[in-house]
Amino acid sequence: MAAPLAVAYLNGAFLPLGQARISPLDRGFLFGDAVYEVLPVYGGRPFLAAEHLARLERSLAALRVPNPHGREDWVALMLDLIARNGGGDMGLYLQVSRGAEAGRNHAMPKGLTPTVFMMCSPPLVEAPAVLTEGIAAITLADPRWKRCDIKSTALLGNVLAKSAAVEAGVTEAILIANGELREGASSSVLVVKGGKLCAPPEGPEILPGTTRDLCLRLALRARIAVEIAPIAADSLAGASELLVCFASRGVLPVTRLNGAPIGAGRPGPVWQALYEAFQAYRHQAAGTAPL
Ligand SMILES: Cc1ncc(COP(=O)(O)O)c(C=O)c1O
Repeated sequence: MAAPLAVAYLNGAFLPLGQARISPLDRGFLFGDAVYEVLPVYGGRPFLAAEHLARLERSLAALRVPNPHGREDWVALMLDLIARNGGGDMGLYLQVSRGAEAGRNHAMPKGLTPTVFMMCSPPLVEAPAVLTEGIAAITLADPRWKRCDIKSTALLGNVLAKSAAVEAGVTEAILIANGELREGASSSVLVVKGGKLCAPPEGPEILPGTTRDLCLRLALRARIAVEIAPIAADSLAGASELLVCFASRGVLPVTRLNGAPIGAGRPGPVWQALYEAFQAYRHQAAGTAPL
């Protein structure tokens, strides 16, 4: 990720990122007692804002942290921050922690004021080879906890998995548990088998991905058959296509898994169709012309 943009938001104030300060007693710092969202911004507008804010509400409710803002206020704050950073395309990170307390206690104290932080980053521009050749991934035993549906900042399992991928010289680690596909270290995974676009069911094992959800809706619109069912890990190598989806990068084709080609070893037709539908959808949402 490139260096963040200049203006951040912290607890009601817009300020230079370098001047943002929180207490060392903040439970986000002490316990990872915080949740977050990453939204792409296209044409100055947060993309899929309602979906991201719905997931934020779910994550906060699961941890019994009061939501500091209603949806309209969240969107107004995001638009203000985006404008202060020059508008256009960018990434927006937002985080809500339970807040700071007077000491360090595992059990959740009541009545804390949540800490709200937001910052922006320049848009991620994919290297052309990512789209023409695809990316590589490895499979890895899922090292995470049992509530991966909560988008918590406690991400050490994801950090270990992504670092293992980087050390193996690939882009993503695809996580496996009980012989089944879960998701990527920072992405949802879709599999094309027998002409169908397959996805594992939602549940506590995976994050309900906003990009995955949009891809599944776009697939149905394009009359691509969709199947939501557990996916055996040992079926991945024989898939005709493998896709990863994430808000920061959209939908990308995985063309090498554990050093071997997936399908023909090139981005496949289902990815191509979804990629084009995704681009059209996002340009429409941003009110900008397709490239
Ligand atoms: C573990 C994990 N799964 C899935 C996703 C994809 O979610 P979204 O499409 O909402 O970015 C992410 C994104 O960061 C992630 O970290």
